[in-house]
Amino acid sequence: MTNKKYGHFDDEHREYVITDPQTPWPWINYLGNEDFFSLISNTAGGYSFYKDAKFRRLTRYRYNGVPMDNGGRYFYIKDGDTVWSPGWKPCKTPLDFYECRHGMNYTRITGRKDGVEASILFFVPLKTWGEVQKLTLKNESKDVKSIKLFSFEEWCLWNAATDMENFQRNFSTGEVEIEGSVIYHKTEYRERRNHYAFYGVNVPVQGFDTDRETFIGLYNEFACPDAVMEGRPRNSHAHGWSPIASHYIEVTLQPGEAKDFIFLLGYVENEQEEKFAAHQVINKDKAKAMLARFDTTEKVDAAFAELNAYWDSLLNIYNVETGNDKLDRMVNIWNQYQCMVTFCMSRSASFFESGIGRGMGFRDSNQDLVGFVHQIPERARQRIIDIASTQFPDGGCYHQYQPLTKRGNNDIGGGFNDDPCWLIFGTVAYIKETGDFTILDEMVPFDNQPGSEVTLFEHLRVSFDHVINNLGPHRLPLIGRADWNDCLNLNCFSWDPNESFQTTENKSEGSKAESVMIAGLFVVTGKDYVALCRRTGRDEEADRAQKHVNAMEEAVKQHGWDGEWYLRAYDFFGNKIGSDECEEGKIFIESQGWCTMAGIGLEEGLVGKALDSVKERLECEHGIVLNNPAFTTYHVEMGEISSYPEGYKENAGIFCHNNPWVIIGETVAGRGEDAWEHYKKILPSYVEEDRQTLHKVEPYVNCQMVAGKDAFRPGEGKNSWLTGTAAWMWYTVSEFILGIKPDYDGILIDPCLPKTAKEYTVRRRFRGAEYEIHVQNPDGASKGVKSVTLDGKALDGALVPFVPGKHVVEVIM
Ligand code: BGC
Ligand code: NOJ
Repeated sequence: MTNKKYGHFDDEHREYVITDPQTPWPWINYLGNEDFFSLISNTAGGYSFYKDAKFRRLTRYRYNGVPMDNGGRYFYIKDGDTVWSPGWKPCKTPLDFYECRHGMNYTRITGRKDGVEASILFFVPLKTWGEVQKLTLKNESKDVKSIKLFSFEEWCLWNAATDMENFQRNFSTGEVEIEGSVIYHKTEYRERRNHYAFYGVNVPVQGFDTDRETFIGLYNEFACPDAVMEGRPRNSHAHGWSPIASHYIEVTLQPGEAKDFIFLLGYVENEQEEKFAAHQVINKDKAKAMLARFDTTEKVDAAFAELNAYWDSLLNIYNVETGNDKLDRMVNIWNQYQCMVTFCMSRSASFFESGIGRGMGFRDSNQDLVGFVHQIPERARQRIIDIASTQFPDGGCYHQYQPLTKRGNNDIGGGFNDDPCWLIFGTVAYIKETGDFTILDEMVPFDNQPGSEVTLFEHLRVSFDHVINNLGPHRLPLIGRADWNDCLNLNCFSWDPNESFQTTENKSEGSKAESVMIAGLFVVTGKDYVALCRRTGRDEEADRAQKHVNAMEEAVKQHGWDGEWYLRAYDFFGNKIGSDECEEGKIFIESQGWCTMAGIGLEEGLVGKALDSVKERLECEHGIVLNNPAFTTYHVEMGEISSYPEGYKENAGIFCHNNPWVIIGETVAGRGEDAWEHYKKILPSYVEEDRQTLHKVEPYVNCQMVAGKDAFRPGEGKNSWLTGTAAWMWYTVSEFILGIKPDYDGILIDPCLPKTAKEYTVRRRFRGAEYEIHVQNPDGASKGVKSVTLDGKALDGALVPFVPGKHVVEVIM
C-alpha cells in the first residue's frame, strides 16, 4: 500500500494540520472540556451534547452513514451558481484551498473558492455551555462579491437513543421558536424538560428555516438542499418532524474586505418556576445573556485567548526536552491532550463509540484519571468520589455509570472481578500527585444509598478484600464475568446470537475460572495499598494485607507459571488458558504485563523469561498482539474473545492499552532498549511519519486497536481516541521511561532509557513547586541513578523531597 500524507504536525501552534479533506477516515477533534462537548471532524461533521452523549444530545448525527460522516454544523456559500462548503463536505464542491487545523479543544477549518475565503474557528469557551463558530468571510478577488450564506444544524430530540427509534412519537413532538436571529429548540420543554437549546448569529438575518424537509427537500440530501440551491430560504416553522436551525444571510464584500459572523450553539437550563416568559413562550433570558457574551469579534477573540492560556497552563505542568521531536510532541502535547479527552469522555462518544452505548466505566475512569491527575487534581478527586459512590458494600462494582445521573447501572454488564483493584490504582495516583491524604477520610456511600457512607479508605479496603474473598481452587482470583479483557468470558457459555456476551447471565455457580492477570494486578495494587497503609499509620492493616500479597505471589509462582511465560487463566472446569499445552491462544499479553510489572519471580528469572516470550511470540512490526496463536474457531468456554476474526480486537489484535504494561514490565527488569522499542511502535508520531494510509485513523492520538499480525490488514487502526492507551502511554513515558515519579513525599527519579538517550530535561510542576530536572546519561546506562542533587546539594537516594519554590535537580545515571 503506497502511503499518502494527509497532514502534518505544527508543534509551535500545537496543531495537527490536515491538508486533504478526504482522509482515510474522518479525523476528529473534541471541543469543550467540562460540561459542554462537541465532536468535530475535519469536514465539520459531528455533534454536540451537554454532559451526557446519550441523555442530553443537542444535535443529530448519523452513524455509519453513506457517505461517511453525515450530520454536523454546516455552512453553505452560494456565490453565483456555485455552492460550496468551507470544510468541503457536505457540498463536496472541489475547493481551491482546504485546511483543517485541530488544536487543543478548538478546530479551524478554512476553504477557498473563486476568490472567497471562508475560515471558521470552532470552540467551546471555558465555563460555557455552548459552541462558538466564528466565520470569517474574505473577498480575495478584484470584484465585488455578493454571497448568500446559509448555516445549518439539525436538532436531536435530546435522548440520542430514542431519537433513533421512536418515530411514532418523535415526528409529532418537535417544537421551535424563532426570535430575531436566534432559533430556539424547545421540544418537550412544555412537559418535563427544563432545558432548551438555541442557535443564533450576531447579525440580522434575511431569512431562516427550521423544518428539515422544507429546507432540504424530501428526496434531496445535505449536499444540495433545495433552499440553498435556489438561494431562497423558506422561513419555515417546524411543527413535529425534524426540526433544524438554518440562518440565511446576504453578504456583500468589497475587494479585499473581510467580515466576521459569530454563530453560537447554546444550551440553557431554567428553574421550574422560571421556565416561561408567557403562555407557550420560553424564558430566553439566559440564552440572551450567553449570546451577549459572544456577540463581537473582540469578545470571541478574548474567549479564545483564554482557552489557549488555559492549555498553556495545563501543558506547562510536565514538559520534556529530549531533542527528539517525535517524542517531545507526543509527551508535551498530544498524549496529554488525549488524556484530558479520555478523562472527560471515558468510552462514551467518539466515531467508534456511539454515545448511546456506554457511560463512564469503573475501571476505565480509574485508569483515565492516572493520565489526567497532574493536570487538574481537583477534578480527579471528584471523579474518584463519584466512582467509589457506585461501589457495593462487598467491594464489587457496577461496571459503568451515566455521567448525568452518576448512578451505577448494569447496562453494559457487571461482575468483572478486576474492577475493585482499579479504585486503589486511581486513588494512590491522586494522593501521590497531590499529597492530599484527606481524600481517604471523605465519607462515600455504597451504590449511592444515603446512610451507607463510609470513608474512602474503607472503600479501598473492601476493594482489596473483594479479591481475597473471591479466590479459586489455586488461590488465584476468580475471574467473574471477565477481567480487564471484557471478552475473556469464561462463565458465559453462550450459544444464543441474540444475547450480548457482556450482559448475558453469568453462570459462575461452581466455576473454577481464575485470572492470573487479576493476580498480577492485585500484587501491584496490593503493594500500593500496603504502602499507603504504612504511610498513614495503619500498620496492622498493612501487615494483614502484606500477607495476602505474599500469598498471591506464591500462588502465581506455583500455579500461574507455564514454563516460559505466565499462564493467562484457568477456565470454568479448571483447564489452563494461555499455556503451551493449548492449541490456540498459548500465550496472552495481560498476565505477562501485570506479573512482570508486579515483579513476580524476578529473582528466579521469571520476569525476563516472560518478557522474552512476549518478544518472540507476541511482538510484530506494529506492536504487541494480545494473544498467539489467534483463535480460528469459536470456543464457547472462552466467549467473545473467540468471536472476532484473527488479528482483530481482543483476538490477537494489537490492543494498544496493554502494550504499556509490558513496557513497564521491561523497565522493572531494567531493559531500557526493549522498553523504548515497544513504546516507539505504538507512538502515534512514528506512525504519522510513514503509515497514514494504512493506519487510517487519526495520526495524532492513540487508537484502541491496531490490526495484529494475523489480520487481513496488519497495521490498520480502529477505535481511535477513547482508549485507556492514552493514560497508560502517559504513565509509562512520564514515570517509567523518563522516570519522574510522583510519590507521597516528593518525586522519585527512576528513568529507564535506551542507550541513545544521553540527556534530557523535564520541567515538572508539583503541588505548586517547580522542578527543573536535568538528566544526564553519559555512559548510556539503561537504569540506575548514580547521583541526584537538589539545588546543588547532593541527596541521599533518588527521592527529591517536596519543597515549595523553584528548584534545579541534576541527575547522573
Ligand atoms: C469489545 C470490548 C469492549 C466490550 C464492552 C466488546 O465487544 O470487544 O473491547 O470492552 O465489548 O463494551
Ligand atoms: C475496552 C473497554 O473499555 C475496557 O474496559 C476493556 O478493558 C478493554 N476494552 C479490553 O476488553
